[in-house]
Order: sequence, then structure tokens, then C-alpha cells
Amino acid sequence: MSRTVYVNGEYLAEEDAKISIFDRGFLMADGVYEVTSILDGKMIDFDGHMKRLARSLNELDMATPTTDAELEEIHRKLILANDVNEGLVYLQVTRGAADRDFVFPVGVTPSLVLFTQTKNLNNPAIAEAGIKVISVPDLRWGRRDIKTIQLLAPSVGKMAAKAAGVDDAWLVEDGQVTEGTSNNAYIVKEGKIITRHLSNDILSGITRGAVLRFAREAQMEVEERSFSIEEAQQADEAFVTSATTFVLPVIEIDGAAIGSGKPGPVAKRLREIYLDESRKSGT
Ligand code: PDD
Repeated sequence: MSRTVYVNGEYLAEEDAKISIFDRGFLMADGVYEVTSILDGKMIDFDGHMKRLARSLNELDMATPTTDAELEEIHRKLILANDVNEGLVYLQVTRGAADRDFVFPVGVTPSLVLFTQTKNLNNPAIAEAGIKVISVPDLRWGRRDIKTIQLLAPSVGKMAAKAAGVDDAWLVEDGQVTEGTSNNAYIVKEGKIITRHLSNDILSGITRGAVLRFAREAQMEVEERSFSIEEAQQADEAFVTSATTFVLPVIEIDGAAIGSGKPGPVAKRLREIYLDESRKSGT
């Protein structure tokens, strides 16, 4: 079935939606994006995603395509038009179309594209089984705090995981885990939740922010610092978070079983709290 998508002010059937070959997103990956999940037809943490979008645009001196109110309306219209009960809205802003040049063009209108994907995000079978990961070198650029559309390195990481017969990859730089290919990475040791501190080295996940807040509210101990693969392999539990996976247990890293080799109680509890709270606060 053809979806309705949004491109630069118009709602179109997906096959009619077009972007210029001179768009700097296409030529230079000169763009940023957001992924907002939908549960029960409602958006989870929409405001958080829009705040991070504004920050990404600002960090790259990119113009803001439209107001937050307008962006919210576009999200809502697409969810309704495509009858999305569970899935996501993908939003992308690029610097716009201009003849190819490394120097940023002046006075160009940014391109704005949004589309929905219907997906079973809350998959209890996957959450109950947990996922297996391998480690791969983090080949990305130095500003991972900006959610850019340059996703070749994470894509190559996911392909390495696929070739190894596992589900995902954790990225390693200077002997320390930065994050997952498209999620934030955590370990649990003696009840303490450990995840890398925020810096230019990782994306400040919207799910990460919510999960750490819920963990602290539930009197769970949280430590924000980096950790190695060796430390992760000795941990009691491991998990990842993102808008599309929520809280997902990791049961194996580079062939070594984590803890009991089954999803642990902390990850399970955090997933439950996250899903409950998100369902309540979804808009
Ligand atoms: N990815 N780290 C990276 C590198 C990511 O790409 C993502 C999200 C996250 C988690 O951020 P959040 O909790 O805000 O989703 C962390 C999205 C889901 C994607 O690229 O599809």
C-alpha cells in the first residue's frame, strides 16, 4: 500500500515524492534526522526529539525549516493518513539543494522530508530472548552528538553483525564502548547501571534520558562512565536503548554469555517501567 509522505510543504503519495539530485543530503550527507516512535497511535517523547533536532540544526548552522507546532501537525497528519498504531515517524532536514560545493550555500531553503513506518516495535518475544552483539571499531566522525544522516559506518557495523550471525554491533574506540550502531549501550554490575557519559562521542539518546530518569526515580544506582568490552563481558547484565527498541536486553557479547545468558531483572524492570510510562505520557 502506498503511504502518504511529506516533502517540502506537500503531502504526496510516496511514489510521487521527489527531491533534487543537488540536495546536499544526497550529495554530502549534509542533513540531520529524528525518529519518533508511535505506540497506541501516540508519539513517545515528541518534545524531546524536537529539542534534539533544534540542537543538531544549530550545531551545523542549518536553518530551521519550520516551527515546532507545524512539525507536530505534520507528524500527526502522517500518523492519521497512514493509520499508524505502532511504528515510527522519520523526519529529515537537509541544508537544501545547491550546486555541488564543499562550502555551505547561502540563503538556501532547507529540505524537509517526513514519512511513517508501521512496525511491531514492542515485540515481547525478542525482549524475552534478548539480543547478541559483536564489537566492531567505531569508524564514525567526531560529532556523534549531532544526529546526522551519515549512517554508512553504523550500516557497515550492522552488516558485520549480520555476517557473524548476531543481531547488532557495539562500537569501540580507544578500548571503550561508545554506543551501539543505532542505540545507547549499558551494563549492570551489582545492581548499578553503567552507561557512557554524554560528550561529542555519543548521541544523547532521548530514550537514554528517560530510562536514566526512571531508574533514578526507582532508587536504582546509575553511573555515567565508559566501559570496555572485557568489563561488559564480566557484567551481570547488558542492554541497549533507542526509540525503536525501548529497553532491549543483550545476552551475549563477542561470543561470551552475559551473566546467566538470559535477560536480567534490571533490564526487564526498566523495559516495563519505560513502556508503562511512555504509554501514559504519549501524545
Ligand atoms: N537511532 N545512538 C545512536 C547512534 C542512534 O542512532 C540512536 C537512535 C540512539 C538512541 O537514541 P534515541 O533513544 O533518541 O532513539 C543512540 C534511531 C532509532 C535510528 O537511527 O533509527
